[in-house]
Amino acid sequence: MSLSVLLNINILTDSTFKIRFNFVFKLLKLKNTFVSYLNFMIKIKTGTIEDVNSLRDLCIETFYKKWKSTNTEEDMQCYMNEFFSNEKLKTELQDPEISYLISQSSEKFIAYTKIKRNSFEGDLGNLKPIEIQRMYVLESYIGQRIGESLMKEVIEIAKKEQFEVVWLGVWEKNYEAIKFYKRFGFDFYGSHDFVLGADITTDLLMKKVL
Ligand SMILES: CC(C)(COP(=O)(O)OP(=O)(O)OC[C@H]1O[C@@H](n2cnc3c(N)ncnc32)[C@H](O)[C@@H]1OP(=O)(O)O)[C@@H](O)C(=O)NCCC(=O)NCCS
Repeated sequence: MSLSVLLNINILTDSTFKIRFNFVFKLLKLKNTFVSYLNFMIKIKTGTIEDVNSLRDLCIETFYKKWKSTNTEEDMQCYMNEFFSNEKLKTELQDPEISYLISQSSEKFIAYTKIKRNSFEGDLGNLKPIEIQRMYVLESYIGQRIGESLMKEVIEIAKKEQFEVVWLGVWEKNYEAIKFYKRFGFDFYGSHDFVLGADITTDLLMKKVL
């Protein structure tokens, strides 16, 4: 092959690469702008008793979407009836040890986390503990930094209230969630059984010292 042909091919691949690179770069910029805009539109509020119905719907929808493929319908219904009933949620919404932090876009609830103060498990080294009991984002909003803003809020509240360690349990095969928690500096420190109907699985315990 002549030098000029080779040069032409190089110039071509080089410019094609540049065009592709620019396109991907612009797409990423667009995505980041969208994510920033979305986060600007989202407010986090602490759930009150008035939120019980919308919160229950959010808890059920996110839990069902996440776990329906790995559990039987009967086990799912049984668990959701027990943990997401109006009575249970109303009691929790009035418990000073528990807070539901809810991400809201306009009037719509799109994500939540449930924290429990002074709840502990395993070796937390006598540090004052706060537990993240649940964190769920609606499927269509996953991966758009909604969880990140909830986690930042949890850490801010925990520090303000002088807790010394945040901990949580996560299913050992929930790799994406584990990656998410690691990003915030959570490390493994133990495990426990998680029972959903007849199904017993292993949850890994993760903690972050504040
Ligand atoms: C885990 C969860 C709360 C994270 O919130 P999020 O808003 O999706 O996460 P963010 O956008 O703030 O952060 C994205 C990071 O989360 C992680 N992540 C977790 N689940 C993800 C998913 N399904 N898709 C993309 N990223 C996911 C990735 O590490 C990602 O990091 P990267 O962008 O560097 O690749 C959310 O994905 C969720 O509700 N998942 C389903 C329910 C669940 O598993 N809850 C945890 C139970 S212990």
